[in-house]
Amino acid sequence: MLPLTVVTELVGLSDEGKANMLSWAAGIFNAFGPDTHQRTLSGVAIMQQAFVYLQGLTRESLDPNGWGAALFGAADRGEVSTESAKAMLMDYLAPSLDTTINATSGAIWLFSRHFEQWQKLKEDPRLIPQAIDEVLRLESPIRAFSRVITRDYVLDGIEMPANSWALMLYACANRDERRYVDPERFDIERNARDHVAFGYGTHLCAGMHLARLEMSVLLETLARRIDRFHLIDASRGLNNTLWGFSRLEIAAEAA
Ligand code: HEM
Repeated sequence: MLPLTVVTELVGLSDEGKANMLSWAAGIFNAFGPDTHQRTLSGVAIMQQAFVYLQGLTRESLDPNGWGAALFGAADRGEVSTESAKAMLMDYLAPSLDTTINATSGAIWLFSRHFEQWQKLKEDPRLIPQAIDEVLRLESPIRAFSRVITRDYVLDGIEMPANSWALMLYACANRDERRYVDPERFDIERNARDHVAFGYGTHLCAGMHLARLEMSVLLETLARRIDRFHLIDASRGLNNTLWGFSRLEIAAEAA
């Protein structure tokens, strides 16, 4: 619930928005395809609901000190159109929840399976930033996004004609054995700073600092309070874009 509370409070949403945002966020990531798949169609329906809600938002319904109100302020000053301001609200909300939720649950799952790594983190919490990168490298909550190739291009002898689609598999690049020695190994002392779980280049994740901050506050607090995590039950969820759990049950041994 941490990312939900943090983001909806920062944006300044009403209770209705807060209540629905979680199911909307996961649904929107299903809307990215593949075409005609049942999950995609239900995702598109959910995305429409979210758009209707966001389009109907008025500045009076938002916390005057939140990011949402700041966007309306920018529209008033003519810096962006009102349409863009509302579209940007979606950029704050849709990509910020399930991504971070899956990253934090992935972290706890990994630590429950690798007690020695949790001990290392507890002994030296300065390892937390590195641990976050290592978790993101291995869990890669967004598995892939696509791009349209704008001009004919050859990469490693593979021809990619203009107007074709390329799928960028972040999770795959993050396990590239040419870059990471023994890539399946979870090692919080590894320098995985150059992972691509937040993408790369022009469209690099706009919320990565917030996501890192949320994960770091959570891990700092847990490191003080929890000696050991015990995995009770876990099942992966199916989503067209995301990698994460539909259910993760962990028992925590208090410090
Ligand atoms: C661990 C958590 C997160 C992960 C793994 C993640 C992952 C990503 C990835 C892979 C992209 C690149 C998309 C591309 O190349 O096309 C991206 C873009 C983006 N993310 Fe995140 N994200 C996370 C958290 C957040 C948060 C908390 C926010 C907002 C508060 C956010 C907002 C955005 C936005 C607006 C973009 C689009 C940037 C652009 O197109 O210029 N993300 N994210």
